[in-house]
Amino acid sequence: MQIFKTRRELQQFALGARRSGKSIALVPTMGFLHEGHTSLMDIARSKADIVIVSIFVNPKQFAPTEDFDRYPRDFEGDRAKCEAHGVDVIFAPEISDMYDGNSSTWVEETILSQPLCGASRPTFYRGVTTVVAKLFLLAQPDYAVFGLKDAQQCFVIQRMVRDLDFPVEIIPAPLVRDADGLALSSRNRYLSDDERRRALSIHQSLLKAKERIIREKSSANAIAEAVASVTAAGGRVDYIEILDCDTMTAPNSETRRVILAAAAFFGTTRLIDNEIFEL
Ligand code: PAJ
Repeated sequence: MQIFKTRRELQQFALGARRSGKSIALVPTMGFLHEGHTSLMDIARSKADIVIVSIFVNPKQFAPTEDFDRYPRDFEGDRAKCEAHGVDVIFAPEISDMYDGNSSTWVEETILSQPLCGASRPTFYRGVTTVVAKLFLLAQPDYAVFGLKDAQQCFVIQRMVRDLDFPVEIIPAPLVRDADGLALSSRNRYLSDDERRRALSIHQSLLKAKERIIREKSSANAIAEAVASVTAAGGRVDYIEILDCDTMTAPNSETRRVILAAAAFFGTTRLIDNEIFEL
């Protein structure tokens, strides 16, 4: 396994690999890797000759009030997990290796990125699309794997790739949960035992709401009940909403697939989760 710290090393390696006919799959991450991340590596491994994992806590997607400084980091642990899952290259730049000091160009998706996390974190998605566009140009991937834990992010990236003609196939990967149902997240590390127990209410409420929405063919009461349950468990709900997956607007008669998405704070930790289903 090779470890690259600079953009130049990664891009030269990737262009060389492409010229010699090798296919590349990229898994972008912010590190502190867990089984959600390693499941993406396994999918990448099954798709391409070369698997590249990027580990970079991207400052451009954090607002000044958010947890950039305390975001968990464990490079040695991450390196061992990548090695165990057959990764060929880790790209782990420092901030100054990734962005020039006066960088002033952004890549921005303007429709699918507006609701849900885009509404509560207005500068988040342009930070994500900017860094992912750079990673695509550096790693030259044929495939890039994104988890449906962050389903809106995956949809925004798919739209960016379509609109800007990146020659990359985006592979959405299933959301991985702990045995008790909590969606795996690097941020779960912030939770106390008590908060973690209470946070299970997010997934439980989404499952119950999903059943009720399918049964009642209407979502208002089901969502109100879900908000009440998460609140009763001590969570501060940021949003619980149902949207059409293709348009990220309210479902209508043409809607096929919906996302029932939630974000809630337990203590100071903001967690997200979702269920995607057909109406
Ligand atoms: P990060 O939160 O580290 O997630 C990296 C990738 O792992 C994303 O595609 C995310 O959806 C996926 N992932 C995280 N938890 C998962 C789970 N429980 N099940 C399945 N997949 C999971 O998302 C980011 O980093 C950043 O925004 C990034 C895309 C790297 C850009 O900086």
